[in-house]
Amino acid sequence: MIEDIEKVSYSEEVIRSRVQAMGQAISRDYAEKFPLIIGVLKGSFIFMADLLRAIDIPCETEFIAASSYGAGTVTSGVVKLTKDLTVDIRDRHVIIVEDILDSGVTLSFLREYMLDKEPASFKICTFLDKRERRSAPIEADYVGFECPDEFYVGYGLDFAEKYRNLPYIGVLKPEVYS
Ligand code: IMP
Ligand code: MG
Repeated sequence: MIEDIEKVSYSEEVIRSRVQAMGQAISRDYAEKFPLIIGVLKGSFIFMADLLRAIDIPCETEFIAASSYGAGTVTSGVVKLTKDLTVDIRDRHVIIVEDILDSGVTLSFLREYMLDKEPASFKICTFLDKRERRSAPIEADYVGFECPDEFYVGYGLDFAEKYRNLPYIGVLKPEVYS
């Protein structure tokens, strides 16, 4: 697995300190609000686990799953809800947690879906933000890092369901795709 990685873009140490700071920011902004923190599966599960432990105010957690990608590295443009919410989000302060915001197609879809249910507030938290690839008009409220337009794996991010378990975020060698 490690031999497939061309370079490490975000090391474990860099990730840890950034996630800590994001957790503190959310704790500060949502004190007394009992936020409902919703992770988008599968990619967010590792970031979500670390972020939650960096948040020191009462909160509730939930997951939703959507998919827009096939086995390749380019979005299909079609988003499907593959696991629905199991709690009522009306009048709740919702924070949605993503591994990476790329074209924005997935989050635009999820935002519309959730705003329809009338939460008290709605914010977006993403670990990576690939801004230059954005096609949908959407901005995250909490961003770990703005990243260059590369294809990343590790820390929850996959290529064809592989590499999610790498403890750092890296870029694959080109020959791995072909
Ligand atoms: P979007 O709808 O184009 O914003 O895509 C968001 C989803 O695409 C993310 O939640 C990831 O699952 C996936 N994705 C986008 N860029 C990458 C990447 O660099 N590595 C792995 N997955 C990615
Ligand atoms: Mg994915």
